[in-house]
Amino acid sequence: MIEVLSVASEAYPLIKTGGLADVTGALPGALSPLGVSMRTLLPGYPVVTDKLNGGGRTVAEFDDLFDGPAKLVAARINGLEILLIDAPHLYARPGNPYLGPDGLDWPDNWRRFAALGWVASQLGHGLLDDYQPQIIQAHDWQAGLLPAYMKYGPATDVKTVMTVHNIAFKGFFGSEIFPQLRLPPAAFAVGGVEFYGGISYLKSGMECADFVTTVSPNYAEEIRTPAFGMGLEGLLNGRAETVTGILNGIDIDTWDSAIDPELKQTYSANTLHLRQVNKRALAERFQLDGVDGPLFCVISRFTGQKGMDLLAQVVDGVVGLGARFCLLGSGEPHLEAGFAAAAARHPGKVGLVVGYDEGLSHLMQGGADAILVPSRFEPCGLTQLYGLRYGCIPVVSRVGGLADTIIDANPAALDAGVATGIQFDADSAHALYEAARRAVKLYGDEKVWRKMQRRGMKSDVSWEHSADRYAALYGQLLGLARDNDNAAD
Ligand code: ADP
Ligand code: GLC
Repeated sequence: MIEVLSVASEAYPLIKTGGLADVTGALPGALSPLGVSMRTLLPGYPVVTDKLNGGGRTVAEFDDLFDGPAKLVAARINGLEILLIDAPHLYARPGNPYLGPDGLDWPDNWRRFAALGWVASQLGHGLLDDYQPQIIQAHDWQAGLLPAYMKYGPATDVKTVMTVHNIAFKGFFGSEIFPQLRLPPAAFAVGGVEFYGGISYLKSGMECADFVTTVSPNYAEEIRTPAFGMGLEGLLNGRAETVTGILNGIDIDTWDSAIDPELKQTYSANTLHLRQVNKRALAERFQLDGVDGPLFCVISRFTGQKGMDLLAQVVDGVVGLGARFCLLGSGEPHLEAGFAAAAARHPGKVGLVVGYDEGLSHLMQGGADAILVPSRFEPCGLTQLYGLRYGCIPVVSRVGGLADTIIDANPAALDAGVATGIQFDADSAHALYEAARRAVKLYGDEKVWRKMQRRGMKSDVSWEHSADRYAALYGQLLGLARDNDNAAD
């Protein structure tokens, strides 16, 4: 068994704001058959500590964890082996894990997530008698200080992996926090936590970790260029031998249209006509005036990254083609307002639910005809994978993991019988509109559409292959010989 500690700010089903949680929640289960035992270190947000139901075992105590007392609690919740940092002064706040009631980042996020990395490093340095991780994997900026704490702490054999789910979120803070980070002065350097005069937790992790992974092979290439690297391309090019992209999978048990309790009507690739029942349920929920013609769905953060401004520009045109929309998400106020205005302009054609609704997202994948993902950049993207699995044809921009996972229905791919969706150039409202037009046209050819749906449903979106690659990487880092040529390249 290889012991890996996964350090993250979210893990489904305990706490989720996006795809990060889906990944950290699914990986332990996917890795366990491969001889990898993965525990997850999480901040003790109220929604998570509540799930302990008084259970859990205190395994360590800290008198002063960044300005307050804290306990480390071990528990098994929803099948995950969890280590929880119970630190009320840092995490006992309701709502979103990152934002206060004013919608802004908590001003002490630097401290809340420094604590996460620091506790992880204590575990790496032998805090517990009965648990010693061999590898610690830090996910995104919130865990980004862990590799620095390991690098500048006592010498150790423990290896670190920094996994980048989104290079846009750097965890950048002013240099004035440095004296409180519990790092030696030498760490405030280009080879440590320093970034443009301040401190970036993500950069620090990418600099100090033994290995850097990201969540699709294409994004691993893209972020080596200025257009996508957002200032970190130089760092990545400097250590290209120890950077790799491993594609996300999805939890195919949670996402199984044959048994999904969130669906009005379950179905399989052989009973696709039953999806119509879900489409009708969606029409009701989104106050649409019918189910004839294609129904596009969007399940997304409403942000520029996701290209939602481009979508707002083309809604009128696509409705003009005879399509309807159901939109679920929340985010930038001007985008929420833009979609609300579109719904008001097109009653019965454009339906909007502002908010976060996991159950509804399942029903949408199980009832809409196509899912639009017009991202400007997309490290991996999961909604297009759920779309494939549910016969909801993905219409995606050609970036990041979207390009890696969807085969465009161009004439050659249709002839060869391999198309699974539609791709278009990112960052162009015109290209998005044209892609929607192609989708409407393809939808009109029921035979071709059904074939694409079935092909998508049969494509392998599970964790199997990628879990193998993580296991191979862990083995490589520990110098273990593996009878496997999958080792990370
Ligand atoms: P990101 O993490 O960048 O937001 P991903 O596509 O990787 O994008 O993952 C988003 C995850 O969050 C998916 O599981 C998606 O279904 C879910 N999701 C996004 N917005 C909503 C919403 N408003 N309601 C329910 N689920 C949502
Ligand atoms: C990030 C990325 C998304 C990715 C997810 C899980 O939120 O934006 O593309 O799928 O992490 O890795």
